[in-house]
Amino acid sequence: MEKHIVALREITVWYGQQGIKERPAVDRASLTVAPGEIVGLVGESGSGKTTLGLVAAGMLAPDKGEVVFDGQVVQTGSRHGMQVHRRNVQMVFQDTAGALNPRLTIGAALDEVLYVHRQALAMPLPAQRDARRNELLDAVGLAPDVLERYPHALSGGQRQRVGIARALAVHPRLLVADEPVSALDVSVQVQILNLLKSVNERLGQACLFVAHDLAVVRYMCSRAYVMEAGQIVEAGACEALFRDPQHPYTRKLLEAVPDVEKGLKKRNMAPGIRVS
Ligand SMILES: Nc1ncnc2c1ncn2[C@@H]1O[C@H](COP(=O)(O)OP(=O)(O)OP(=O)(O)O)[C@@H](O)[C@H]1O
Ligand SMILES: [Mg+2]
Repeated sequence: MEKHIVALREITVWYGQQGIKERPAVDRASLTVAPGEIVGLVGESGSGKTTLGLVAAGMLAPDKGEVVFDGQVVQTGSRHGMQVHRRNVQMVFQDTAGALNPRLTIGAALDEVLYVHRQALAMPLPAQRDARRNELLDAVGLAPDVLERYPHALSGGQRQRVGIARALAVHPRLLVADEPVSALDVSVQVQILNLLKSVNERLGQACLFVAHDLAVVRYMCSRAYVMEAGQIVEAGACEALFRDPQHPYTRKLLEAVPDVEKGLKKRNMAPGIRVS
């Protein structure tokens, strides 16, 4: 088996015409995620986390650098290459309302993704679709009555569960979760984080977990990368990273949240707890 599910190598992304902005949004950034691993990506607003996450998910082609998925170089310059890659990777977004079409019921939203990927999923019969829909709801802890409802009639936490169900529908090998809880109430945050953890443990997908909240990254991830102004400035096991940061920027981030442990306790989370 390949050691990494995904490897980003020396990724550079410029928005707009190169040279007009003084620096690229992502600047020669490299990272890897092993099968089944949850890896954090932290950094201040504007440091390039989302941009790098979009590259990992095949939603944005880098200007330079290589995306390697399961040992194969992704043809990021070709539409077909990106389409193939997007089947293997799914994103979970911060904006739960914006990620769902307001005119589709939850049932229709799930059907849509199952229909779009029907060939890859080998799911020709409506009965199979119905069964899969229920299975997905069950996996994310939602009752079947949400199928008839519209996104606005759900809470933010319920909508994020739908977002996760949609992402899981295609059996992705990697999830890119971009600030999946930062728009949610603190009490709901823990539920969604625990759901992501239990999904990771049951289904074994790897996850690139993007967040600016260090307590959340500490809770979720074994390893993390720190990004500053488009560059990865430090990486390592979370335990060491938080205890003994090497790079001044990482120290600055930690000082901005003086007590990560306290932050965890307040939210009733402890680092490294396994969730069944
Ligand atoms: N579509 C875009 N067009 C032009 N510039 C962009 C675009 N998206 C992001 N940028 C710029 O690229 C840089 C990196 O943005 P990005 O959204 O990746 O950062 P981020 O770390 O995800 O920030 P946040 O924590 O606020 O989500 C920023 O300077 C941002 O202004
Ligand atoms: Mg972002």
